[in-house]
Amino acid sequence: MALIYVSAWSDADIWRAEVAKHLPGETLRVWPDVGNVDEIDVALVWKPPHGSLATLPALKLIVNMGVGVDSLLQDPNLPRHVPLVRLVDPLMTEQMTEYVVLGVLAGFRKLLDYRALQAEGRWVEIDRDVAPPSERVVGILGQGELGTDAARKFLALGYKVAGWSRSPKHILGVESFHGQDRLHAFLGRCDAVVCLLPLTPETRGIVNARTIAAMKKGAWFVNGARGGQVVDADLLAALDSGHLSGAFLDVFNEEPLPPSHPYWRHPKVIATPHIAALTLPSMSERIMDAVKRYKAGKPLINVVDLERGY
Ligand code: NAP
Ligand code: GLV
Repeated sequence: MALIYVSAWSDADIWRAEVAKHLPGETLRVWPDVGNVDEIDVALVWKPPHGSLATLPALKLIVNMGVGVDSLLQDPNLPRHVPLVRLVDPLMTEQMTEYVVLGVLAGFRKLLDYRALQAEGRWVEIDRDVAPPSERVVGILGQGELGTDAARKFLALGYKVAGWSRSPKHILGVESFHGQDRLHAFLGRCDAVVCLLPLTPETRGIVNARTIAAMKKGAWFVNGARGGQVVDADLLAALDSGHLSGAFLDVFNEEPLPPSHPYWRHPKVIATPHIAALTLPSMSERIMDAVKRYKAGKPLINVVDLERGY
């Protein structure tokens, strides 16, 4: 049987070398050079072209080489009977926590304002009455792998932390909210709102005029999840009206973000090109572990629930 890499996103030679290191004796075919499709039982994928996986009739395992599976689940021809495992890796989680800490602190410590003053060569203290962390609430939409780690690290920095999820959570020190009915109550608590939700039909457009209106005036928004969760026109309107003080965005409805998009030059936006948490070759141990488990007939971990969509 054989493994195939289906993605246009990174150099296949990197992953060929990682397969040789972790799965001696296995070779990695690279889409679209499939060879005999009846031999391919495992696909290592990141945003595979829609329809590609349906052409592999002997497939027994799909390993998503990233965290989010939204792009994969949007493939109408995804072979849904094949188990789908996603990447969960401590370094991925650390990267995301580092990013959202950066994002929130940029807002709390008025980085955009100081950057503007720097551009004019002006030495002005605009933040003499800066509130201590213990008086600020960081709210995290999503209390999964990424949201939970971020919550703990914001607590360690001394902030109050609130979290929102689908099911109830008991994370020491975190004020937990769950379910659609509690979303507005959660949002009204937060000085900064961080989105770490998966993109599903329920979360698409969740950051919109209504939910933004439920946020505190002057709140700061950080998105490390997916652009599809934000209604851009509503976010821009809230930035322009001053209801939100700013946004720190890594992900966008259209990627790459088109050159003419208002986010690029908006004075209240910091935009990064979907780099919050990257899949690195050093994560190959976790990626190949899924293949080893399948080959050994052991239970798979981090299996995606296709009904839930994450
Ligand atoms: P996860 O472990 O699956 O956690 C998802 C969390 O969201 C869970 O707490 C879940 O609630 C909650 N949730 C899902 N649907 C919800 C809904 N309708 N209402 C309320 N809560 C809901 O996911 P993760 O590993 O933390 O990753 C989150 C996302 O980060 C990924 O899906 C991906 O899109 C994004 N990401 C981005 C980058 C980047 O570089 N920008 C990198 C990695 C990941 P329950 O706990 O109750 O199920
Ligand atoms: C990146 O966005 C990921 O989901 O891994």
